[in-house]
Amino acid sequence: MTRLLTVDNLRVRYPTRTGVIDAVRGVSFTLGRERLGIVGESGSGKSQTGRAIMGLTPPHGIVTADKLDFSGIDLLSISARERRSLRGKRIAMVLQDPKYSLDPVMTIGKQITETLRTHEKVSKAEARDRALAMLEAVQIRDPGRVYELHPHEVSGGMGQRVMIAMMLIAGPELLIADEPTSALDVTVQLDVLKIMDKLVSERGMGLIFVSHDLRLVSSFCDRVIVMYAGKVVEELKASELNTAQHPYTRGLLNCMPVIGENRHPLPVLDRKPEWAA
Ligand SMILES: Nc1ncnc2c1ncn2[C@@H]1O[C@H](COP(=O)(O)OP(=O)(O)O)[C@@H](O)[C@H]1O
Ligand SMILES: [Mg+2]
Repeated sequence: MTRLLTVDNLRVRYPTRTGVIDAVRGVSFTLGRERLGIVGESGSGKSQTGRAIMGLTPPHGIVTADKLDFSGIDLLSISARERRSLRGKRIAMVLQDPKYSLDPVMTIGKQITETLRTHEKVSKAEARDRALAMLEAVQIRDPGRVYELHPHEVSGGMGQRVMIAMMLIAGPELLIADEPTSALDVTVQLDVLKIMDKLVSERGMGLIFVSHDLRLVSSFCDRVIVMYAGKVVEELKASELNTAQHPYTRGLLNCMPVIGENRHPLPVLDRKPEWAA
């Protein structure tokens, strides 16, 4: 499998007046043209890992790694300008809440075409055609109408699809989807997952799918890494989830509700300090 991304000993730290916050503490994994899930509870460092790969760590954060390589490009040594030109074009990230990611005063069509035109020399007419085709690809039924709307005029689910269309318009080789479906209801979630799945299989895109939902991730991804307190505690094939060794992963599996099962009391995850060591 072609190697798309190599992350070796990635660390993200935030110096504060009261000490250093270690958000990511030595994360390593590789990615080919496949679907990799990153799961872990809130605060375990999933988003910070994604942002570091994107080059979107806030300025006061310190990112180090033994290796951070995208398709032969050393992401740590290239200039900010080179980084920006990769972003959106070859590497894209879908964030949790479309409300914060879309510009409220610009029509949806304009946002998508401008994203395309910053990365590719295309005429306005061609950009429009491609934006409409992309809206259709993310299963927006009336692309011509939605094209003219502002973000607040569409539902959350539609906003999320627009966001995905915008991220995919330039045809990225790597997509980092950070809890892209958490804000959506279940049926829309499945639609969005199907769209991303299709892009992996049809375009050979690599996908990092971040979620706190272990069951969703394991049904959708090829491989899963489990994070706890800024570290990878376990890496598994999604199909082998039931053989998970780490007590945290086992705890997550055990805490997931099963439809039709009535468990009293509900199990709670009993965290051990040594998991974070
Ligand atoms: N700008 C920041 N300054 C200081 N700490 C941060 C900052 N952003 C995130 N963190 C810390 O990094 C840790 C990991 O956060 P995050 O990657 O967002 O977790 P997750 O996405 O798994 O919920 C958290 O403990 C959070 O408090
Ligand atoms: Mg997060």
